[in-house]
Amino acid sequence: MRYSKKTMKIRLDYNNMMSSVLGKEGITEEEIAALGGELTKAFDSVEQGKGKGMMGWAELPYNQDEIVEDILETAKNIRKNFEYFVVLGIGGSALGPIAAFQAICHMHYNDLPKRLRKGPKFYVEDNVDPERMVALLDVIDVKKTMFNVVTKSGSTSETMTQYLIINNILKEKLGDKAKDHIIATTSKNTGNLIKIAVKEDYKTFYIPDGVGGRFSELCPVGLLPAAVVGIDIKGMLAGAKFMMEECSSDNIKKNSALMTAALQHISMKKGKNIGVMMPYADGLKFIADWYAQLWAESLGKNKTLNGKDCNVGQTPVKALGVTDQHSQVQLYAEGPFDKVITFIGVDEYRSTVAIPAGCEEYPNVNFLCGHTMNELIQAERKATEYAVTKAGKLNYTVMLPILNEFTLGQLLMYFMLQTAYAGALLNIDTFNQPGVEEGKNATYALLGRPGYDEKRTELANAPQKQNKYII
Ligand code: PA5
Repeated sequence: MRYSKKTMKIRLDYNNMMSSVLGKEGITEEEIAALGGELTKAFDSVEQGKGKGMMGWAELPYNQDEIVEDILETAKNIRKNFEYFVVLGIGGSALGPIAAFQAICHMHYNDLPKRLRKGPKFYVEDNVDPERMVALLDVIDVKKTMFNVVTKSGSTSETMTQYLIINNILKEKLGDKAKDHIIATTSKNTGNLIKIAVKEDYKTFYIPDGVGGRFSELCPVGLLPAAVVGIDIKGMLAGAKFMMEECSSDNIKKNSALMTAALQHISMKKGKNIGVMMPYADGLKFIADWYAQLWAESLGKNKTLNGKDCNVGQTPVKALGVTDQHSQVQLYAEGPFDKVITFIGVDEYRSTVAIPAGCEEYPNVNFLCGHTMNELIQAERKATEYAVTKAGKLNYTVMLPILNEFTLGQLLMYFMLQTAYAGALLNIDTFNQPGVEEGKNATYALLGRPGYDEKRTELANAPQKQNKYII
């Protein structure tokens, strides 16, 4: 499908970050200008890094023609032959697929009758809660299910555990045909899953070396599940490519991702340690989850690139408009001045629902009649934006003309670029996750993985819990 760049461009409104609108808590033009050299350096490092090292994600809109065709063909066969599609993965190998599914597919996709769905029922299992595994097995028929095992490292305990359980069941029920029910998405060169995939002869898609988990939605990690449920993956990639072009200028006023990275950087330096993301669209609810990982894992670091201690980052908080107006907005309005709120709005919802008459005798209800739910949610977004701005709280809004594959692709790329610029401004390694690795390694040690004896000893020698502090 073709999308008009003119009408489908997402927009950034950062008025409410600026002192001229917000007052004393706001940021001045001078503060942005003072970043001068740092900004140029951050922009240049992202420009020069594109496609290299761990910035392979910046090439994904350009270098996947063949892979996309393979994915589309594979997805077509899955739609024809399977009734369920289950992603087994965690972190960056799950959050993107969940977000794209929620954004584009019917809100009750799995409950739709088969003829109205564009693909098999869809599940993403991103935990090792045994109750959830049993529950999944209660609702799917493994003989009619394609499982997509997704892990870049090919050794993540959670994903490999899920794989072992599912593979065992498949082998019991299907014998040699089990292999036709598993697709591996993993690194071509490292890890165990690729070795298993070769041995078992699984259909395999590769995660490029330079694409880390949280930057992987636009490679086969996200594209295969998306194509299976009928999402136009070429549209998503076209949107991402458009955003790359839109953010190719070093002029901050023409580069929305650089602008919000700079505004967030200034805010973080002033102690705004919390970043709230509040989309006003249920379709974007899980974009906030995807972003939380992207922002937290990328920026939460304790060393600069020069090896200096830094302990930086901003804690992402997920909220949903209007739902969380009735839970969190009180805090945003009247609580501490420690947050930057990212609102995401859509100009046009994909459905329109009129609010019918029926309460003429109650003016305080009747005022709603004759409006639409669309008008109500827009009014509530504007009203909340007004209220937090009046309270002096930093906020900016990203507006999508409508939620579709092209605008989703733009949004994903916008946040990935923003994160890359923000990391460069902080002078940290945006693309590693030593804090996550520490937990992974401790798990391996606790469960007896070979090669982790030293870690096991370290854990045994760690301060023990004291009963006096357990009540
Ligand atoms: O961003 C990351 O790299 C991590 O959060 C990973 O996505 C997560 O740990 C899962 O790793 P893997 O894909 O190797 O199983």
